[in-house]
Amino acid sequence: MYVCNCNGVTRTEVDEAIAAGAQGPEAVLAHHGCEPCCGRCLPEIADRLSVGGIACGGTARARSLVAAE
Ligand code: FES
Repeated sequence: MYVCNCNGVTRTEVDEAIAAGAQGPEAVLAHHGCEPCCGRCLPEIADRLSVGGIACGGTARARSLVAAE
């Protein structure tokens, strides 16, 4: 299942990036050589980060990006 449709990043790939130490949504995408385009995936990636119990400095920024739309 795709989490980031712009970059074709799947949920499994998000979890791989988190396991490798990515600590924010942008870092998760960067782990796979991508960067945010529309930003719609950032809240879901932030949620995956918080479910994993990993501190996520990008959560507030991700939510503000979506709220700004
Ligand atoms: S869905 Fe991830 S940047 Fe657009």
